[in-house]
Amino acid sequence: MSELKNTIRRLKEENNAVILAHYYVEDDIQDIADYIGDSFYLSQIATKVEADTIVFCGVSFMGESAKILNPEKTVLMPDATADCPMAHMAEEEKIRQMREKYEDLAVVCYINSTAELKKLSDVCVTSSNAVKIVRALPNQNIFFIPDGNLGRYVAEQVPEKNVLLNTGYCPIHAQMTADAVKKAKAEHPEAEVLTHPECTEEVVALSDYIGSTSGIIDYAEASDKKEFIVCTEVGVFYELKNKNPDKIFYPIMEQQICPDMKKITLEKIIHVLETKENEVQVSDELRARANAPLVNMLELGK
Ligand code: 13P
Ligand code: SF4
Repeated sequence: MSELKNTIRRLKEENNAVILAHYYVEDDIQDIADYIGDSFYLSQIATKVEADTIVFCGVSFMGESAKILNPEKTVLMPDATADCPMAHMAEEEKIRQMREKYEDLAVVCYINSTAELKKLSDVCVTSSNAVKIVRALPNQNIFFIPDGNLGRYVAEQVPEKNVLLNTGYCPIHAQMTADAVKKAKAEHPEAEVLTHPECTEEVVALSDYIGSTSGIIDYAEASDKKEFIVCTEVGVFYELKNKNPDKIFYPIMEQQICPDMKKITLEKIIHVLETKENEVQVSDELRARANAPLVNMLELGK
């Protein structure tokens, strides 16, 4: 293992490359990353790094966003098939109908979306800034795509707006059940429940804290509680345990695993650094239109 990591260090230097990784990738990838974080942090970092090449250890919308924000950089994906199913769960025709129906409509697009959906949107958001950005928009009518669960959570937090929901969902978070949370609470009555807003309404209702992966990590660190039930992908456990060796973290079920995030391996990082395969390509036309909602997010989410 350390041989693979040494090879990656050498290749990074030779290629003037940095490695960005989301909290959901495997522990050994988080270990080797130069920057690790939630979706918002990673999109901010992507605009700040000086290296020529970014190796993005995450799913395709993350690499695509990094490329749109930094067209002059080479962005490499260790596995070109690592994709977020939710990123495709909205329809152009529905967006068009909504724009026709509501004159002042703002289409708010969760960053977990294809560039094709971003280009039809007014502003992007992540789970860490969606509430803040929707609240700050001048528009009264908001069409939130693609995640219906995050959209519903935002609607609850910003009741003064008319937030229209789409039916997309994260298959990993949506399968987490209220029964599983109740069972975990019964087994660990002292534990606080920390939940990602991609979870269902029933799971969110049983939670003590709702936030992005970084939010969950920060909350657990600041809390004086010792035990936590964590309703998000198990990749976050690595950072949670590293930062809090004296605290205990419980998943609610076995399958809190995003198979696409787990496709990233050390061998695949070496492969793309050696071959430059899987370079993210975004056409000029698509980039020109998908860039504005991302830049709006970086401004409004500051
Ligand atoms: P955050 O990184 O904003 O917590 O989102 C989680 C996620 O599902 C990324 O795909
Ligand atoms: Fe997409 Fe869900 Fe995987 Fe995040 S955890 S990348 S939202 S499928």
